[in-house]
Amino acid sequence: MKGIINGFSKLSKQQKIQWVAETFGQNPTEMAEHISSWQHADAAQQKVLDGFTENALTNYPLPYSIAPNVMVNGKVYAVPMVIEESSVVAAASSAAKFWLNKGGFHADILGTVKLGQVHFRWLGQPETMQYLFPEIKAALLASADDITANMRNRGGGITDVELLDFTAEEPGYYQIRASFETCDSMGANFINSVLERFGDTLEFFFDTRTDLSDHERDVEVIMCILSNYTPDCVVRAWVECPVGELEDLARHAGLPGPEAVDRICTAVRIARLDPYRATTHNKGIFNGIDAVILATGNDFRAVEASGHTYACRDGQYRSLSKAWVENGIFRFELELPLALGTVGGLTALHPLAKRSLEILGNPSARELMMIVAAVGLAQNFAAVRSLVTTGIQSGHMKMHLTNILNHLGATDEQAAAAQQYFADKTVSFSAVREYLGQQ
Ligand code: MEV
Repeated sequence: MKGIINGFSKLSKQQKIQWVAETFGQNPTEMAEHISSWQHADAAQQKVLDGFTENALTNYPLPYSIAPNVMVNGKVYAVPMVIEESSVVAAASSAAKFWLNKGGFHADILGTVKLGQVHFRWLGQPETMQYLFPEIKAALLASADDITANMRNRGGGITDVELLDFTAEEPGYYQIRASFETCDSMGANFINSVLERFGDTLEFFFDTRTDLSDHERDVEVIMCILSNYTPDCVVRAWVECPVGELEDLARHAGLPGPEAVDRICTAVRIARLDPYRATTHNKGIFNGIDAVILATGNDFRAVEASGHTYACRDGQYRSLSKAWVENGIFRFELELPLALGTVGGLTALHPLAKRSLEILGNPSARELMMIVAAVGLAQNFAAVRSLVTTGIQSGHMKMHLTNILNHLGATDEQAAAAQQYFADKTVSFSAVREYLGQQ
């Protein structure tokens, strides 16, 4: 049947491109050339990229942008962002500029604990397991000594090992939950290596206990893996300012400062009480966060997964940010888990990830957490401010106008004229096409 192939991964890159183009392309020659053309001109650079995944054919480009003027705890950053959505970088930059002369963003780290789990089945008496656990814990820690040595030298390592008993919910199911400090690395490989060692040690521990019955010597390790939910690896970022100094908050919309503040606070409260709105509200936050995570070679799926779980930690999915006025001070705050690294993994391998970290002044993981949270907050502030004043579409479609003009093949002159023409008009694909048709 067309499209089924054995041994695809064993083909050379050229053969893979050829097979895809010949099997699926309407014009195979054109498709093969087009796919190949996105490869890096420098073969050594391309080899690095190809090394990241299996079956790489080419590169998939996305714009690499900068949001300047992001002041966090008094230090100003130009923040690299990788994202395709037209208005995101503009919105982050505008919010950063807005807060620049109002103290910028503030941020602190609430914790940096990362977690991993060994899930196993043991069918003896739970009291026996409780009795054995101190010995098991000592054996686990000792067995991972060689893996943790470097991390311990850097000030990290395993910080706790607990036993959790889930036998009431699933017969014989226990969990070893280990806590880790991974310093400046995201630590996924480190944590997973330790956990797999724990799994082997657990089996060895029970297997070699002559004081246990045959039945009790039988332990079944189901899986060993880190948890991407890191509720104790959390950063908080906020902006604050007397309401009286926010007259410029919605001047563009002709709205007095206090009224705009009230509408923003109401919008954020709505996102705290309604999961439908909360999802979109948090999506706006992750517009900024994911873009910096990608630009710095971090794992945006891990960050998203953890952030969304954190958003429903009290049982209902809610906004990750809060906004309120107290004693005349407006405060807009974002709190979320961010398990990031600034050494190791892709941060060291991806040429532009390395460059991003350099642009940010080679921050520690903690500093990067604060920068990323500040950008998430900037994004959220900009989105909510637009939503409660002008609406999101005018800014969004103004940015999208460039995409439409490019798509319709407008010349530079036509594009410049169109930008002027649509400055006070509603942008839509058909309106732009009609406008160009009349030129
Ligand atoms: C669009 O990508 C993001 C927003 O929908 C976020 C929000 O509604 O808060 C504008």
